Amino acid sequence: MREDTVNIEQERNETPTNLYAPHEWRHGTVVAGVPWKNPVGTASGTFNVDACGQFYDVAQLGSVTTKGVSPVEWLGNPGVRTAESPAGTVNAVGLQNPGVDHYLEYDLPKLKGLGATVIANVAGHCDDDYAQVVEKLAASDADMLEINVSCPNVTHGGMSVGTDPVALGRLMDRLRPMTDKPMIVKLTPNVTDIASIARAAAEGGADCLSMINTLVGMRIDIRTGEPIIANRTGGVSGPCVFPVGLACVWRVRAALPDIPIIGIGGIDSGEKALEYLYAGANAVEVGGAALYDPTAPIRVARELEELLDARPELNEKLAKGDTWR
Ligand SMILES: Cc1cc2nc3c(=O)[nH]c(=O)nc-3n(C[C@H](O)[C@H](O)[C@H](O)COP(=O)(O)O)c2cc1C
Repeated sequence: MREDTVNIEQERNETPTNLYAPHEWRHGTVVAGVPWKNPVGTASGTFNVDACGQFYDVAQLGSVTTKGVSPVEWLGNPGVRTAESPAGTVNAVGLQNPGVDHYLEYDLPKLKGLGATVIANVAGHCDDDYAQVVEKLAASDADMLEINVSCPNVTHGGMSVGTDPVALGRLMDRLRPMTDKPMIVKLTPNVTDIASIARAAAEGGADCLSMINTLVGMRIDIRTGEPIIANRTGGVSGPCVFPVGLACVWRVRAALPDIPIIGIGGIDSGEKALEYLYAGANAVEVGGAALYDPTAPIRVARELEELLDARPELNEKLAKGDTWR
């Protein structure tokens, strides 16, 4: 490596370009008993502390949800893993992660050391996997746990649990007694009746629900006639899923008036975040938008704050942990 390259790298690491200086947030919220500085967090698998930390203090976010962790390292799916699609992307990363022990030694302490409110996302191929991870996270500094029963890109576990209320109930019976930490269940939109899955999660002891994970989709390379993604299908995310996520929050809120909901899907502006809050969410998370713009989560938080300034009735509800509807 050339010497000047080293210097540029060092300078970049030592002096982040902080585009968003810390400020006093005016509209905090409470999600399942956990205070968030503002109602905007990051969605699992789409946030990189080193990329985002170059541009703002990550402790300024409402919360940071980390990539799904499994009992041991998972290598994920073979490439090609992603494809572009109209107003979104299709991905089949396959929950690649270094395992829960690595997470507890490196990733979580780093984020907590920076002052972030951290949601640890839990992945598994079977009930035993989820239980092993939750057991270890129960004794950790994570502020909340999010059980991912909605990943479309793994053959076992993931979405197969989140589309079956009986399987989900069985998993919750196993996990719930293991920890007092607030437990979020992340739901898939790939079902006919999301409210029945949400009810199974709530009856199983979930403190909060998050929605949506990605929608099953694919792209085909017309030069070969074959799928672009090696896994063939993947999960669709981005602006194209925004109306889908919104309708899921609306339906679940109508069915379950009291449970906290985190709205996810296609959020790339304060206006879209506000739509989720009006649909009945307590808070929101920015996902894929952070992959092409690391500042998206904090920008959305700032934009939403200005929009909330003009909406005291909504703020009053959010501050107490209540929702618009
Ligand atoms: C590359 C990528 C990786 C993801 N990894 C996870 C994950 O590990 N666990 C999880 O629960 N969701 C994961 N998701 C789903 C997102 O958290 C989010 O629910 C989804 O992308 C919809 O939000 P968006 O449209 O704002 O991206 C991932 C999404 C993408 C694009």
